[in-house]
Amino acid sequence: MAHDTNVTWHEHQVTRERREALHGHRGCVIWFTGLSGSGKSTIANTLDHRLHALGHHSSVLDGDNVRHGLNAGPGMLRDTHGSDFAQRFGLGFSAIDREENIRRIGAVAQLFCEAGLIALTAFISPYRLDRDRVRQTLRPGEFIEVYVDTPIAICEQRDPKGLYKKARAGEIKGFTGIDDPYEAPLHPELVLAGGEETPDQLAGRVIDYLMLQEIIPARRA
Ligand code: ADX
Repeated sequence: MAHDTNVTWHEHQVTRERREALHGHRGCVIWFTGLSGSGKSTIANTLDHRLHALGHHSSVLDGDNVRHGLNAGPGMLRDTHGSDFAQRFGLGFSAIDREENIRRIGAVAQLFCEAGLIALTAFISPYRLDRDRVRQTLRPGEFIEVYVDTPIAICEQRDPKGLYKKARAGEIKGFTGIDDPYEAPLHPELVLAGGEETPDQLAGRVIDYLMLQEIIPARRA
């Protein structure tokens, strides 16, 4: 009978609670946002390393990596899938492509969270609405928006990929912070002064927050 089948299914379901009990911490999405060169990926990877050392289960989704796979650009898809496909599904940096970039990342991060993992995402995610939409897909407290607030002068000075230089020279159009907008969060859970402390210190601040919110257990004295 359908009813009995449903009951059996529920009894054997691996619930979110059971997954979290196994992991020893809650699932969540730690959403880093900030300019290119602000330190998002470095902090996220440092945090990932520290969570791992504490025995927690985390994973990083990072702008440059995801744009090589799930959200590859048309140039990369053209070779393997042809130009029509590449045109339709490849993502660049227009407002609508960034919107779709964040929508897809948000969906993946939500799955990670449902699996009881601590998902760390490091994308510029310049639009407030796009970030808020991801927040709305999660339960209260599960979306932790971390604004990596590094002055653009410092990002530009770091310029790890030489892209600010190209943007200033007009070789790249629509570069965030130069000739494309960045909308800082209005009510982020955390603000990190990316130009003032080391990635390790900043990752430590996120760990403190996670303990305070009882997402991960507090350190024993
Ligand atoms: S987002 O705006 O859609 O969130 P994402 O974080 O995935 O951006 O990718 C940002 C990275 O792509 C930057 O760190 C930089 O290396 C590269 N990039 C290439 N073109 C641009 C551009 N026009 N604006 C910002 N970043 C760009």
